[in-house]
Amino acid sequence: MALQEAQSKQQEDRRLRIVDRTMRMHGNEPNALIETLHAIQETYGFIDLDLMRYVSDKLGVPLSKVYGVATFYHFFTLKPQGEHTCVVCTGTACYIGGAKAILDEIGKTYDIGPGETTKDNKLSLLTARCLGACGLAPAVVYDGAVSGKQTPETVMNTIGRWFENGS
Ligand code: FES
Repeated sequence: MALQEAQSKQQEDRRLRIVDRTMRMHGNEPNALIETLHAIQETYGFIDLDLMRYVSDKLGVPLSKVYGVATFYHFFTLKPQGEHTCVVCTGTACYIGGAKAILDEIGKTYDIGPGETTKDNKLSLLTARCLGACGLAPAVVYDGAVSGKQTPETVMNTIGRWFENGS
């Protein structure tokens, strides 16, 4: 379990490194805001308040402005309402590795597509373009923790537990 947590943390750091790199490439300046939000959207699949705060601090942009930009443009998705989130990476390595089969299985079982939440608000499904963990393709993020080498079966097991436990 400790190993799994350490691996999740490492994957998390990879995603954050992609975001950091984007900010650095733009001089860590306020005008990097839109590019940075794009990088977050592509790696995390959504933009949540913690990430907005992080960007606000790093770029010296008021949180209200970060929030305003993130909510203004339709191509940005705020963290969805579902109790649990599942982000399937659809970047090239993951797509080739079977991301579509994973999405199809989730869609068939829970009747949702990317960007949607089940009617009971239990599960939100999202996609990301690359989580920075291509060596682990196909990768899926369960409630913020990255898991690699996923299959439709492993995904169904993990998500199924959320529904079984009622949590
Ligand atoms: S393409 Fe999925 S982690 Fe890079």
